[in-house]
Amino acid sequence: HFDRHSSFWLFGYGSLIWKADFPFLERRPAWIEGWARRFWQGSHDHRGTAEAPGRVVTLVREPGARCHGMAYRIEPDTLGALDLREKNGYLREKVELHLDGGGVEEGLVYLATADNAAFLGEAPLAAMAGQIARARGPSGSNRDYLINLALSLAALNARDAHVDALVAALPEQD
Ligand code: BEZ
Repeated sequence: HFDRHSSFWLFGYGSLIWKADFPFLERRPAWIEGWARRFWQGSHDHRGTAEAPGRVVTLVREPGARCHGMAYRIEPDTLGALDLREKNGYLREKVELHLDGGGVEEGLVYLATADNAAFLGEAPLAAMAGQIARARGPSGSNRDYLINLALSLAALNARDAHVDALVAALPEQD
């Protein structure tokens, strides 16, 4: 029989939305309040290289903002594998999750703060989009990461203006 205390909610707002390559007990679209998704974290190990880092998402505090994503109910052991996978500057933070369809649950989220070595921060839109268009790493192209995110948010009916602006600013592929 299932024991509620042996599981908890993990909130995904980046690749975890479309790439759930870990075991989970259930998943539900969800949102968090007071956080905004931003392509401000550098990636030299997944979507870029040391010479040409990519840009991936992190969360920044923004009063009144909502960030939509996917919540996964997982067993504690699963977190061990994820911690290894997501170690590039990301920390775990507790958040209040609003599950689509109702319900508020405590959850965990991974985020990268400005004090980690890979943090890039804000740049002009065209510069961020150009960097994303060029970067490629062991997990694939940074362009595909951005487009996958935009498509999965659209499928959740949860489009994100920052993500859509970056897609619109992507230079043509050569
Ligand atoms: C996410 O999808 O929530 C995520 C993925 C990798 C690192 C941090 C967050």
